[in-house]
Amino acid sequence: MAKITINGKIFDVDPELTVIQAAAQNGIEIPHFCWHPKLTVSGNCRMCLVEIEKMPKLAIACSTRVADGMIVKTESDRVIKARQAVMEFLLINHPLDCPICDEAGECKLQDYSYKYSVGYSRFDENKVHKPKRVRLGPNVMLDVERCIMCSRCIRFSDEIAKQPVLTFTQRGTHVVLTTFPDTQLDNKYSMNVIELCPVGALTSTDFRFASRVWEMSSTDSICVGCSRGCNTHVWVRKNEILRLTPRFNEAVNSYWMCDSGRLNTFRTVNSQERLHSPMIRKDGVLVDVGWDEAIARAVSDLKSFKKSEIAGIASAFATNEDNYVFQKVMKEVIGTKNVDYVQHVEDDAGDELLIRADKTPNSLGTRQVGVRPAEGGLDITGILKGIEEGSIRALYVLEDDIAEDPRFAAALPNLQLLIVHASVNSKTARFADIVLSCSTFAEKNGTMTNFAGRVQRLRPAVATLEQDRAKDGFAMSRWDKFASQNDRWGRSVKKDARPTWRVLTAIANALGAKLKCTTAEEVFKEIAEKLPPFKGMNYINLGSQGANANAAESVSKQKVTA
Ligand code: SF4
Ligand code: FES
Repeated sequence: MAKITINGKIFDVDPELTVIQAAAQNGIEIPHFCWHPKLTVSGNCRMCLVEIEKMPKLAIACSTRVADGMIVKTESDRVIKARQAVMEFLLINHPLDCPICDEAGECKLQDYSYKYSVGYSRFDENKVHKPKRVRLGPNVMLDVERCIMCSRCIRFSDEIAKQPVLTFTQRGTHVVLTTFPDTQLDNKYSMNVIELCPVGALTSTDFRFASRVWEMSSTDSICVGCSRGCNTHVWVRKNEILRLTPRFNEAVNSYWMCDSGRLNTFRTVNSQERLHSPMIRKDGVLVDVGWDEAIARAVSDLKSFKKSEIAGIASAFATNEDNYVFQKVMKEVIGTKNVDYVQHVEDDAGDELLIRADKTPNSLGTRQVGVRPAEGGLDITGILKGIEEGSIRALYVLEDDIAEDPRFAAALPNLQLLIVHASVNSKTARFADIVLSCSTFAEKNGTMTNFAGRVQRLRPAVATLEQDRAKDGFAMSRWDKFASQNDRWGRSVKKDARPTWRVLTAIANALGAKLKCTTAEEVFKEIAEKLPPFKGMNYINLGSQGANANAAESVSKQKVTA
């Protein structure tokens, strides 16, 4: 270990660290633009200048290795003056258009202007003007005037996304970020440059001008696009999700997420195809009904079949809580042995960074909570065959659009009873006799287990009609408290959707069971008590970063300054 002194305090640090890393590990922030913990050091913004005893000039903390006995000052008069000079240089040609910039409110340049700048400009010449709306690729827009030439985006594209298409051209104040001729920024991870960019130079073509950041609430959640389960922030205004951004978790996704997860997974929540309430089929047509009627109909219909004629298909898109209650109700209350789920693995659809070939977020968890045929029961192939041959006459399907598979689409009309939990008007829902409108991943509490066994939390970010705020721990921004009843066109956006485990509990109790759980947290407590992979876990120790099976040790303290 090396003994170094920073601002008069002595620290023992790893001699391999740079000054900026050693300071960050000990809670001292050295301002920086170009340095990022996951990218190579470029040392070109000069914002991290510090004073080091015995060095004649100020040194950049991001590329200076610590040494035993080193004495560093990060707040001396020389350092403060140098920082003010760097800020002055960076702002000379900056357009200062914060009032119309998407980044305002989460901009490093804006924050540092308040913290480290003198608050006025001595520059009264004309600013250099550069291109304002350059489409770098399908998902990323560039405003060259806002760029401070930190090169984070260039290094990300080269080093992490492995698509080296960005570069600087020209010199001095005329430097321009651009793509190489005949290329564009078009890779599976291109949108990570948007958060990496410390200013508003790179913005999302999808989110641009949709909302100011302070008008949205941000809820910690996970992406449901594949079995990686990247940690996310869900950004909501007026009960509508406007964007997803990656949330740091070294054990899962580091600082990144893929463009597909970011752009596609939340569309279902906002979709015009969302079911507004439960439905039952009357005279051949699905009509909206209340929950009491839908549940009573499901109970009476299920009673008219023999146990062996009923099958249940759980879902790797649903939570551990939903699947646990489902298999328990199917096996212990309804009494069928025929329980399984469908896997959705797309061969060659994964890569080495984050994206997994398994396109479901909770395949492992679904297995771990007991979704499998009971002794002598039918698996998914047997269930399909049973429907085709007529031995399975009633099917209960959790949140999975099984009719996307043409074999199921052809077999489903053979059924006498099809009960489906769905959030949108899916293909399977259109075949159903009873459709139970279910909350999406963004509207409920729950857990999912990623491919590596990490159990992670979902939290409600969007309100539904029945949401019990006290029990569900629902948090809204100050803005949403006034506005969450309506969408941007003034229509009510709350859906009459319920978490699947809660509806299943009501059906089971109407069938004579005595299931007691009233919150997702209580269901998880039962799972953790009964099932070894979840031993010792609870909603509190899962924290914001989750925990691996059999090691319910929260890692939520890990923090690296970006
Ligand atoms: Fe840095 Fe942003 Fe400019 Fe890229 S666009 S060099 S990330 S300031
Ligand atoms: Fe050190 Fe940019 S030069 S952070």
